[in-house]
Amino acid sequence: MEFRHLGRSGLMVSEISYGNWITHGSQVEEDAAVACVRAALDSGITTFDTADVYAGTRAESVLGRALKGERREGLEIFTKVYWPTGPGRNDRGLSRKHIMESIDGSLRRLQTDHVDLYQAHRYDYSTPLEETMEAFADVVRSGKAHYIGVSEWRASQLREAHALARELRIPLISNQPQYSMLWRVIETEVIPTSEELGVGQIVWSPMAQGVLSGKYLPGQPPPAGSRATDEKSGAGFIARFMTDDVLTRVQRLKPLAEQAGLTMPQLAVAWVLQNPNVSSAIVGASRPEQVHDNVRAAGVRLDADLLKAIDEIVEPVTERDPAKTESPAQRP
Ligand SMILES: NC(=O)c1ccc[n+]([C@@H]2O[C@H](COP(=O)([O-])OP(=O)(O)OC[C@H]3O[C@@H](n4cnc5c(N)ncnc54)[C@H](OP(=O)(O)O)[C@@H]3O)[C@@H](O)[C@H]2O)c1
Repeated sequence: MEFRHLGRSGLMVSEISYGNWITHGSQVEEDAAVACVRAALDSGITTFDTADVYAGTRAESVLGRALKGERREGLEIFTKVYWPTGPGRNDRGLSRKHIMESIDGSLRRLQTDHVDLYQAHRYDYSTPLEETMEAFADVVRSGKAHYIGVSEWRASQLREAHALARELRIPLISNQPQYSMLWRVIETEVIPTSEELGVGQIVWSPMAQGVLSGKYLPGQPPPAGSRATDEKSGAGFIARFMTDDVLTRVQRLKPLAEQAGLTMPQLAVAWVLQNPNVSSAIVGASRPEQVHDNVRAAGVRLDADLLKAIDEIVEPVTERDPAKTESPAQRP
């Protein structure tokens, strides 16, 4: 495993992190979830990402049980707040009330007294940013989180929050956006602003939820047990990439991966890590073998000719519009 600083902070994270969205507490049984976490730890992954909302709060509990007994100082545990965790109108968003209540619930489920990074899972247009940042400052000062991050925030939102964080003297060090060969919406605005502010990206769905592994063939039913067959939630999320045009182009990447001596999943994960503003790629996995495959992307350099050849194949199906960095206009 290789390690990078998270933004301009002193915190080191593994280049590849393990995330448990869709899988833990939902798509996969607990023994498979624990086996994946074990595989991640055995492969040198130290950074784990979850959220209060995943599987209706069950994902945090699964991760807490799976990491029990590990040396806490050897781990970086990240969670998030914003999406609904209960039926009430205050069980969501970035109000002071919800942040204060949600961090306590997360720590209880994760069986730890602090998280290393506490992230705003989206921007909340219904709460003054000052209220949110002051609540985050209190979370940091009470020792419940070491650092603050955000997820899917626009460049202007990051800039405003960063200025408040400086005033409050708390470390806002990261953004968590979607980023892959097929989804490059952060490149024109979010990344230049983040570089200037010293904010690092912890990117999600680097494999486009499994599509860039090449296992989905155009015109064929998805393989049994894959996310595209998970009617509970996965199939809906992956649907945007499941077009014949995308899947056909992804198949054309296979000879490029072979030439580079990489598997398709490794090529996809290594691709996001070529961007120096990316501190870590968060990969998901439903099986331990996937973790063992994916971690070999750490430390891989892709040459300019290969990057150009990839661009030529996927460009027509790559999303680049910065307006696709979105948070709901109303609280969900
Ligand atoms: N901040 C946010 O709003 C946000 C949103 C989404 C995700 N995230 C974070 O990012 C993490 C990763 O997201 P993601 O799960 O979509 O990432 P991903 O790495 O793009 O996709 C992971 C899925 O791809 C399949 N896969 C993984 N490795 C494979 C391999 N070697 N061969 C074949 N298939 C493979 C597995 O699904 P199957 O085996 O089921 O097909 C796995 O669950 C999440 O867990 C979460 O922590 C954050």
